[in-house]
Amino acid sequence: MGKKDILTFAIESSCDETSVAIVKNGREVLSNIIATQIDIHKKYGGVVPEIASRNHVENITYVIKEAIEKANVSLNDIDVISCTYGPGLVGALLVGLSTAKAMAYALNKPFVGVHHIEGHIAANYITHKDLRPPYLCLVVSGGHSHLVHVKDYTHFEVLGKTRDDAVGEAFDKVARTMGLGYPGGPIIDKLAKEGTPRYNLPRTHFENLDFSFSGIKTAVINLVHKEGDNLNINDLCASFEEAVTDVLLDNVVKAIEELNLDKVAIAGGVSANKYLRERMEKLGKEHNLKVYYPEFILCTDNAAMIASAAYYNYLAGKLSNWDLNAVPNLKIGEA
Ligand code: KG4
Ligand code: ZN
Repeated sequence: MGKKDILTFAIESSCDETSVAIVKNGREVLSNIIATQIDIHKKYGGVVPEIASRNHVENITYVIKEAIEKANVSLNDIDVISCTYGPGLVGALLVGLSTAKAMAYALNKPFVGVHHIEGHIAANYITHKDLRPPYLCLVVSGGHSHLVHVKDYTHFEVLGKTRDDAVGEAFDKVARTMGLGYPGGPIIDKLAKEGTPRYNLPRTHFENLDFSFSGIKTAVINLVHKEGDNLNINDLCASFEEAVTDVLLDNVVKAIEELNLDKVAIAGGVSANKYLRERMEKLGKEHNLKVYYPEFILCTDNAAMIASAAYYNYLAGKLSNWDLNAVPNLKIGEA
């Protein structure tokens, strides 16, 4: 006891959310401010990189100020300054990275660059105070679909990943074809609840733990064109979710059995999906696994998850240098 609390300050700006958070001891959120640009990008049907960068520049100082006020701390109370440095949109990443570096330098504090996906994984530490590695984590977001063996807080092994579309990307593309708007995930989630999975969609499997979603996506697009007005959107949404989830969970079961793990987590934007959560719960009961997923607000991009990951990097002595650059296609485990 008597150990001093450690406060990490984090900026997340890899895509279309400008977010700043302050987290205590990696698990307790003091503030987590998220300024989303979704409404701005909506009319283009997806994120426009140049517009995203410009909005990050406009928002960042206000979001920082709000996060500090909400946490009710002073800048000097903060122990570690961190930010996402990849993967993501380079112009967007640079806004958070330059700001975080300038703050760390001016305040003379340790600086930690965080891998965005490692941040998504860490979101589970905030929601589940008892979660400790090792466990299996299925990371499903707009840009990534990875099956990760979390060996320790800062030690990851990628067991499998998508060979084509990311899961969230497939949700967004399929939704666009059905004329449902952007982002597609939350809309499909809602409509699928009113439908039955009666359309037959293909499931692609590989020898290893890789995924593929482009076959499902193409089949949905073909159905939309073929069926025209006869199409039942709710049923198609339910069929799409079922096919995607079958593919994801087959590999989860394979990995759990191979590695003999008893805990499985999901993370990333798509981990907000209600059907995926239900199926994970069911799988947990069938295979005697403990199942974890983050609270809704921590599923999509936010800085609290980055602050949590930064805390564990700091404890492990993994600090970054001033010459750290934004890495748009940063691989997991490379940090
Ligand atoms: O993690 P995230 O905020 O950004 C990336 O790092 O990519 O994930 C965004 C993705 C989008 O593709 C969005 O459609 C999807 O997460 N998403 C969902 C749901 N909420 C967000 N997909 C399925 N069901 C949801 N409820
Ligand atoms: Zn993300």
